[in-house]
Amino acid sequence: MSEDLIIASGPKATRYQLILLQIQAVIAGETDMIANLANISACLKAQFGWLWVGFYIVRDNVLVLGPFQGPLACTRIYNGKGVCGTSWEKKQTLIVPDVNQFPGHIACSSLSLSEIVVPVIQAGEVVAVLDADSENYNEFDETDQRFLEELVAFIPVFNQRITEHTA
Ligand code: SME
Repeated sequence: MSEDLIIASGPKATRYQLILLQIQAVIAGETDMIANLANISACLKAQFGWLWVGFYIVRDNVLVLGPFQGPLACTRIYNGKGVCGTSWEKKQTLIVPDVNQFPGHIACSSLSLSEIVVPVIQAGEVVAVLDADSENYNEFDETDQRFLEELVAFIPVFNQRITEHTA
């Protein structure tokens, strides 16, 4: 239950280690993709308080908005467009310290100043992206990349269900 989450303080790595353990416990035994993505978004939002965090899922060759926490967001992002579409195209995590400096950045909220997008890769293909936005410049760094990449990789159900949904 979300009210049972333990929210850590201290170094970023410590906060990630604790929330990732709790995410593993929260999603254990649940096979529904939407349910798990929703709770992952809620856990990350509760721990880090970012403006927006959630998932876009590849459906019919477009990224479609999935479960998230935060303000209203655009619903479809095409390959190569914005930070999310570029992460998908390049199959790599993108850290954007200042969204105003990223050509083609898609501003779902004018409050967003920095961003990280982590692709979820299965069998060599991007099946979704995890996107986080902050109201601060320079919010995200290599520590976020390391732990968020670990997060999207360690959830077998996540990958399995996305395959089923996009088949
Ligand atoms: N800024 C993203 C769009 C998604 S929102 O931030 C939730 C982008 O440029 O792809």
